[in-house]
Amino acid sequence: MNNVALVTGAARGLGEAIARKLHKEGYKVAITGTSAASVQPVADSLDASGESVWAGALDIRKKSDWESVRDILTEKWGGTDILVNNAGRSQVAPLLEITPEQFTANVEINLNGTFLGCQVFGPHFRDRGYGRIINIHSLAGHNGGTATGAHYAASKGGVSTLTKVFAREFAAAGVTVNAVSPGPLDLPVVYETVDPDKLETIKANIPVGRLGDAEFIADTVALLASPGAASVTGACWDINGGLYMR
Ligand SMILES: NC(=O)c1ccc[n+]([C@@H]2O[C@H](COP(=O)([O-])OP(=O)(O)OC[C@H]3O[C@@H](n4cnc5c(N)ncnc54)[C@H](OP(=O)(O)O)[C@@H]3O)[C@@H](O)[C@H]2O)c1
Repeated sequence: MNNVALVTGAARGLGEAIARKLHKEGYKVAITGTSAASVQPVADSLDASGESVWAGALDIRKKSDWESVRDILTEKWGGTDILVNNAGRSQVAPLLEITPEQFTANVEINLNGTFLGCQVFGPHFRDRGYGRIINIHSLAGHNGGTATGAHYAASKGGVSTLTKVFAREFAAAGVTVNAVSPGPLDLPVVYETVDPDKLETIKANIPVGRLGDAEFIADTVALLASPGAASVTGACWDINGGLYMR
């Protein structure tokens, strides 16, 4: 084990919080985004020398990008131990107005992107005899969405299934695959995409009375990423303020 973690979509928001937490915990962290330039400021703020941080482009829709980053990290640090499939696109749209193109585009990021990450890094971890995959899910994937569109909700619903399928595939090889499923978080994308009046209503309907905390999601990801989390696999941990109780 080399203590190397890859976090996708880490230019800001939850991905940035997760990258910062894992780096603080002592992991070498690879942070990726749609462009290297978008993640470089986060990388520089963590370790300007680049010894413990690598920043690069990884479009999660492209299998070749996944393979390329896997190979770069093997060259730089000897391999990767943890993958956090965080990158995603949150979209809000009225159900009957979503075009086929919009639906497909969203699924291609949130669902196909997660699939490709698991498909490329799962065997890498299996061959090394150890690995942790944490897929960032969403409450929308369970309840159909409180603030988001059907394309987003459906794509996240598929992440539940992928998490279980990949967990089963790699369980005997020391590789765990889990999901963390937040409800609405106190993060920029929520304020950018949800109408302010609707957001007030959403907040008023959250049983614990507040938006979720990205730092706590990051703490949870770090726990699932730790060697001690060996017996948790195929699970989905809900952190939604009581909006959805199983
Ligand atoms: N915020 C919430 O309330 C909430 C709740 C539940 C679940 N989540 C999930 O948490 C994750 C992070 O959300 P967030 O709130 O931090 O959203 P965010 O601020 O929009 O960040 C998402 C990141 O994903 C990147 N990304 C989008 N498409 C990509 C692609 N094709 N390839 C690589 N990177 C891509 C974006 O890069 P660019 O900026 O370059 O486009 C962005 O940096 C997502 O999976 C989201 O579904 C969020």
